[in-house]
Amino acid sequence: MKKFTGVSDVENLQEIIKKALQIKKDPLSETEKGKGKTIGLVFLNSSLRTRLSSQIAAQNLGLNVLTLNAAQEAWNLEFADGAIMNGDTVEHIKDAIEVLNQYCDIIAVRCFAGMKSKEDDVNESILSQFEKHAKVPVISLESATRHPLQSLADCITITENWTEERKPKVVLTWAPHIKPIAHAVGNSFAEWMQEMEVDFVIANPAGYDLDRNFTKDVEVIHDQEEALKDADFIYVKNWSSFDEYAAMPEVKDSWMLTNEKLSVTNNAKVMHCLPVRRNVELSDEVMDGKNSIIYEQAKNRIFSAQAVFSEILDGLD
Ligand code: CP
Repeated sequence: MKKFTGVSDVENLQEIIKKALQIKKDPLSETEKGKGKTIGLVFLNSSLRTRLSSQIAAQNLGLNVLTLNAAQEAWNLEFADGAIMNGDTVEHIKDAIEVLNQYCDIIAVRCFAGMKSKEDDVNESILSQFEKHAKVPVISLESATRHPLQSLADCITITENWTEERKPKVVLTWAPHIKPIAHAVGNSFAEWMQEMEVDFVIANPAGYDLDRNFTKDVEVIHDQEEALKDADFIYVKNWSSFDEYAAMPEVKDSWMLTNEKLSVTNNAKVMHCLPVRRNVELSDEVMDGKNSIIYEQAKNRIFSAQAVFSEILDGLD
């Protein structure tokens, strides 16, 4: 694997899920693989799971790990090409990436959507700079439009929680939030589910349809109860409007998942990428209930990252 920024970088999804599940059984099976190599984990935004699971995964492979919490610890970065840097920005992103090239064999970066310019976010204005200037493989730790390491962990979690012969019904349901949230997790989950052997539908209120470039022909239902009928897995996530970019059109119905809502499902397992705002996005009773596989999902972030880092190491010259 030469880079990892989306599902299209995965040659065989079932094979990488299998590999991740093998790593889960024996996480220290490849401790020599990354010896003498360095991965740089660059965080332009906050993180708990991605930062820690990536560090564990890299250490399990014997990699040296450099973690840069760029927003707090690095120089104030300039992203605009041709900028006259006589203001607050001190270092241009392309110079920072050129320097990372000198220190790292792999560069992993988290760069969220700014939620101000739809054009910048859709065109991945920051990740694209890493892809342009990095001379080593680039891994996305969540970008403006995708969160591929999360989505792979989600696929691993569904796979290990499904034993029946038939395809499971998987529902991605919108949940309420107090502020505009980016589309990366929803987009990404939709893309990866289309590569899995599942029946997949999306439930969201009118005005909140995700970008069709990601959801393609997936059925979008604006009635949550109808969508949840016979669900085997429910993936809960908030996102803001895509059409009216970053807006939060009023939603009159209650969309927070409760135990009562689970009664129409096939005893569905409940997933969320975390962090979650309890009793806004997801009720305590579901979060702490027997249907939740959310912490197991978070644990699988380690094996998702380790499987990807291992494949990237295989692809190093
Ligand atoms: N799910 C996820 O990416 O969590 P963090 O934002 O804490 O890394």
